Amino acid sequence: MNPNPNKKSFPERVEIVEVGPRDGLQNESEWVPTEMKIELINRLAACGIRTIEAASFVSPKWIPQMKDSLEVMKGIQRNSSIRYPVLTPNLKGLERALEAGAEEVAVFAAASEAFSQKNINCSISESIERFRPLIHEAKVAGVTVRGYISCVMGCPYQGEVDAETVAELAETMCKLGCREISLGDTIGVGTPLQAQNLVKTVGQRVPLDQIALHFHDTRGQALANLYACLELGVSVIDSSVAGLGGCPYASGASGNVATEDVIYMLDGMGIETGIDSEKLLDVVQFVSQSLGRPPQSRVGRANLNH
Ligand code: HMG
Ligand code: MG
Repeated sequence: MNPNPNKKSFPERVEIVEVGPRDGLQNESEWVPTEMKIELINRLAACGIRTIEAASFVSPKWIPQMKDSLEVMKGIQRNSSIRYPVLTPNLKGLERALEAGAEEVAVFAAASEAFSQKNINCSISESIERFRPLIHEAKVAGVTVRGYISCVMGCPYQGEVDAETVAELAETMCKLGCREISLGDTIGVGTPLQAQNLVKTVGQRVPLDQIALHFHDTRGQALANLYACLELGVSVIDSSVAGLGGCPYASGASGNVATEDVIYMLDGMGIETGIDSEKLLDVVQFVSQSLGRPPQSRVGRANLNH
């Protein structure tokens, strides 16, 4: 439990969870070759990023871009000091993830019933019942579990989402055994004071050091929202190189906040990440060349114009 959710203190260090290879690429309509996915992950690892979400063992009928996740996991150069979490919506996903040698998996729920139905074809309570055996089996296999909650500041189908609903779900998922809860502003609708209120509300039920922020930048609010939550002491941020991504079940959702934009801000604030920003910009360029379009990020675009 966070003893004083109103306290303002920036963390000294922030852990970046790079989600580009999963959240980013899952949204690409053109097939991205397996070798490019593998090279992207290896290059991100070389920048000093310590957590890279590498793949997704969901139904290939739902997300065809992730159908080569086994090959990707087998193809990357594993570094023992890096976590490579993968998405698993159900037991079948866990089985496939274990076959691929995953050491961390992520389950994903939503704070909105409508989004839960669209994204994973079940209600919120059914999703929790699905996670129960999955998390149990993961623990038996010695695999850690991360938990996502989508639509924490608004839903494309339902509109407003109450922070208390998110907090209850976060607590339930922690009790089930998730080591960390990542709060997803899936459609990038939140604003800074709302984000702070969300963290304070969730922080009443889940320790602050188990809260991660996963903000999509659809309306240009992500950095401001992150700053507002850093002020409360949150120290885990999900981001995507070159601002890749969106969500296939949230039309109009743009990419996650770009890793290079976050690193630029954190470097300027003197907050450590262990990430080499020059190398990261080379990866941004690699992504742009591979996908044939400029990066979404401001820092990435500024770098192109140099
Ligand atoms: P369903 O159709 O209800 O599943 O989908 P089912 O259990 O009835 O099975 C139907 C078929 O799918 C069967 O095959 C299963 O074997 C197969 P068939 O007999 O027809 O040949 N199947 C699978 N195949 C491979 N791997 C699996 C798997 N499971 C079933 N794991 C299901 C339910 C959950 C599977 C489906 O809805 C699904 O895969 N959804 C994933 C959607 C998704 O990946 N969305 C994007 C990721 S979430 C996100 O981006 C948000 C996040 O970034 C946070 C944020 O921004 O808010 C995390
Ligand atoms: Mg996302």
